[in-house]
Amino acid sequence: MSPARRAIAAFTRLHGTAPSGVWSAPGRVNLIGEHTDYNDGFVLPFALPHRTAVAASPRDDGRLHVATLGDDGAVQQASPVAVAELEPGAVGGWAAYPAGVAWVLREQGLTGGANLVIAGDVPAGAGLSSSHALECAVALALLGLAGRAVDDLPLVARWVQRAENEFVGAPTGLLDQTASLCCAEAHVLFLDVRSFESEQVPFDAAAHGLEVLVIDTRASHSHTDGGYGARRAGCEKAAEMLGVPALRDVDVSGLDAALGRVSEELRPLVRHVVTENERVLAAVELLRGGRLAELGPLLDASHASLRDDYRVSAPELDVAVDAAKAAGALGARMTGGGFGGSAIALVPVERHDEVVRQVLAAFAGRGWTTPRTFTAVPSAGAG
Ligand code: ADP
Ligand code: GAL
Repeated sequence: MSPARRAIAAFTRLHGTAPSGVWSAPGRVNLIGEHTDYNDGFVLPFALPHRTAVAASPRDDGRLHVATLGDDGAVQQASPVAVAELEPGAVGGWAAYPAGVAWVLREQGLTGGANLVIAGDVPAGAGLSSSHALECAVALALLGLAGRAVDDLPLVARWVQRAENEFVGAPTGLLDQTASLCCAEAHVLFLDVRSFESEQVPFDAAAHGLEVLVIDTRASHSHTDGGYGARRAGCEKAAEMLGVPALRDVDVSGLDAALGRVSEELRPLVRHVVTENERVLAAVELLRGGRLAELGPLLDASHASLRDDYRVSAPELDVAVDAAKAAGALGARMTGGGFGGSAIALVPVERHDEVVRQVLAAFAGRGWTTPRTFTAVPSAGAG
């Protein structure tokens, strides 16, 4: 059953009546353009077929009642909270995500209560953005219940980012929310995070005999425990030293000069961001020219840069990437924030089984959890 149907069924069981509506939003993979979003740079994500659905109805007592359906079919209910009393720190755990969205939308005049029942199949904690899928679906549900037209999705993405930054406490950028809200089936979204100009670029790997294989290493990651924030602060410091608003403003032709003007420990961060932006532009050029099969070296270079310069990879990600490559992937890289989570590999369809076999073999005997793999096809954004 789809997440939407499961959310409706669970809502009806819990509240004894059908919901007013159901809204859903997908997880994402980022094809390339990592840790560039908060540097005002370029990203190139696509939406996964995996979605989080929220069945919702208004309440007239101003309270938020949120429940989530686990994989085992059990419903977990958060303690009800009054929307008027929401403030950062007041709600912890998984319920902070929906509460944070209600908190940020309160400023937009959405003060009413709601019953929300969540069901989803985006793997949680896999770097595939289950938290943003949840936040985006809740945002659309609350806006929908209030009868608000949602014609400015980038604005909704910014509200969701505030919920994440200020309420949940993760200093993340705009990649994930924008991907979840704005991606389109069969396309990757080329987004300039500074101007918010975007282009839907056709992406049909199957037409080239290829697929994007996702390898969820199941090594846990977190963006609230300091590593992510430290990289972000380092980039901001480097931009300040260079006298530019963001590292986006450093062109690859000026990279060497820029490296000479920042302190030694910040150089690898600058090198990653500047070269990664360049790789996104190169990837878009290849895709526009129908040369999807030539993306491999860009994926490889992105991974090396994230591993060696930005230092956000993890042993599990490196092993997954190396094994996929050894088994015939044309290119592979970590995707998302890193420190764990998932890798992607561009794989000739006929090498699929061999790549999966060699990745599993490379994980065996190390005391690591067995990874999960699936083929990702660019799917529809939120709705
Ligand atoms: P990612 O967003 O990459 O999956 P995060 O650690 O940032 O990883 O977010 C995962 C968290 O999001 C989960 O631990 C949980 O708190 C919350 N979450 C995601 N999906 C759901 C869901 N369907 N129901 C409740 N909470 C969810
Ligand atoms: C996380 C974060 C994004 C982005 C990404 C790295 O997924 O939420 O905003 O910075 O890491 O590209």
